[in-house]
Amino acid sequence: MNVKGVIIQGSSRSNGNTGKIVNFIKEKTGFAIIDLRSKNIGAFDYNFENKNDDFLPLMQEIVQNYDTIIFATPVYWYSMSGIMKIFFDRISDCLKSEKELGRKLRGKSMGMVSCGSGVELKKGFEMPFVESANYLGMNYLGGIHTWMENESIPNALKKGLNTFIEHKIMTRFNPL
Ligand SMILES: Cc1cc2nc3c(=O)[nH]c(=O)nc-3n(C[C@H](O)[C@H](O)[C@H](O)COP(=O)(O)O)c2cc1C
Repeated sequence: MNVKGVIIQGSSRSNGNTGKIVNFIKEKTGFAIIDLRSKNIGAFDYNFENKNDDFLPLMQEIVQNYDTIIFATPVYWYSMSGIMKIFFDRISDCLKSEKELGRKLRGKSMGMVSCGSGVELKKGFEMPFVESANYLGMNYLGGIHTWMENESIPNALKKGLNTFIEHKIMTRFNPL
């Protein structure tokens, strides 16, 4: 089975805490990384005024090359980051003017990684990912919350990440 995965990173800094988690997952999975911060993606516009920015080519690249998409976002004000939210808003372009592109998301898998300041993630954080996957006809693999201690990934969390990767993310890559 030729399935490939990508981690879409939505932090306001490329080498911060979310970046550390993204690199950990990349090392274990071999997934590619797309750093949204390095892209020029404007807000959703009803007249598609931003249609010539980086969003559509990026989405083409994603649907053509990857079957599993992991969204990795810091927790900013109890929610996904603004950069990540803009990316989700722009998926609406694929439901209106670029329908063919939107349809290609069907049947793909989605996972979610949050990175906050501590162990607690408020109830409801994951809902937009679950419901967006549902709406787009994607298979939701699950999510994991992460954080740093002394600027590195705590050992107990590394174990949790390994379990998440093995049992939720990589199951399609190692079919029994
Ligand atoms: C604008 C902003 C808002 C934040 N809001 C929250 C929050 O609501 N809950 C939380 O646990 N941490 C919050 N934090 C802390 C970050 O989630 C945390 O430091 C995270 O690890 C940062 O990841 P990054 O280095 O990729 O940005 C916030 C940080 C920033 C910059």
